Amino acid sequence: MRHLIDPLDFTVEEIEALLDVADEIAADRQAFRQVCQGKTLATLFYEASTRTRLSFEAAMLNLGGNVLGFATADSSSAAKGESVADTIRTVSCYADICAMRHPKEGAPLRASRYSRIPVINAGDGGHQHPTQTLTDLMTIRQRRKQLGHITIGLCGDLKFGRTVHSLIKSLARYEGVKFILISPEELRVPDYVIEEVLWDKGVPFVEAEDMELVMDQLDILYMTRVQKERFFNEEDYVRLKDTYILTPDKLAAAKPGMAILHPLPRVNEISIDVDDDPRAAYFEQAQNGVYVRMALIMMLLELASPVAAGARTGALQKEVR
Ligand code: CP
Repeated sequence: MRHLIDPLDFTVEEIEALLDVADEIAADRQAFRQVCQGKTLATLFYEASTRTRLSFEAAMLNLGGNVLGFATADSSSAAKGESVADTIRTVSCYADICAMRHPKEGAPLRASRYSRIPVINAGDGGHQHPTQTLTDLMTIRQRRKQLGHITIGLCGDLKFGRTVHSLIKSLARYEGVKFILISPEELRVPDYVIEEVLWDKGVPFVEAEDMELVMDQLDILYMTRVQKERFFNEEDYVRLKDTYILTPDKLAAAKPGMAILHPLPRVNEISIDVDDDPRAAYFEQAQNGVYVRMALIMMLLELASPVAAGARTGALQKEVR
């Protein structure tokens, strides 16, 4: 049994295969509507979510399966003091697979050690968010036709932004990727990511504070929200929250083919005036979140793509004839 806790739990080849299935789903969702009949997904969300929880639930429903779960810690027995270990042992009796979001770093990993069903990390504190990364990779591959040979600018809260940590880890495995890390001093990428991922693998990167100065170099601009919920004091959050606001005039120097990504939710960091720019890809990302999560559920439950099976049967029939 496999889990998805860290973006590196899957090889590059497995990620490519998963994205291929996600592309098949995007092309023909109807073909997948019975793949998970009789299966149940549990969504265990100890922290707020719109996209991740609802896209996981949409994914399982689109596959013909069932969903159950809780959307806040307060509405579960965590409010009475139940441990993650006991919760997952119980949920293993009710569901075939689960997605867990938790404010504590490492909680989904701990759950996976006690679980009898695959556990998916749906975001743990300021640590990792591997399924957002699958969404980001699908969107980058759609826009750029490949995952290597890009210069990507990650902008905003690079310290607490778990989507950033997971995306750096994943993209660092591809040839020709250069990172431009744009943040104020206080919100720089944590040292462990710089040392263990970028330095260790000799991946080129630079740190910058001014988004406009580097705009003309970027193939991808990945904007992020300043993570209010991870700050220790309101004063620091208020001082830093509007450091970067992407507006149409700031895009003047950007390449025509650049893609603007954002994991969402956005607060103020991308003006709504940018939404109609053809480079804006953040609502495509939200849509792709459903397709990659459908493909992920199938992969962890070891369910084959009916499209691939159909294509194989068709090829075999041709051979026999
Ligand atoms: N991108 C993302 O994780 O969004 P939610 O917090 O709404 O799930």
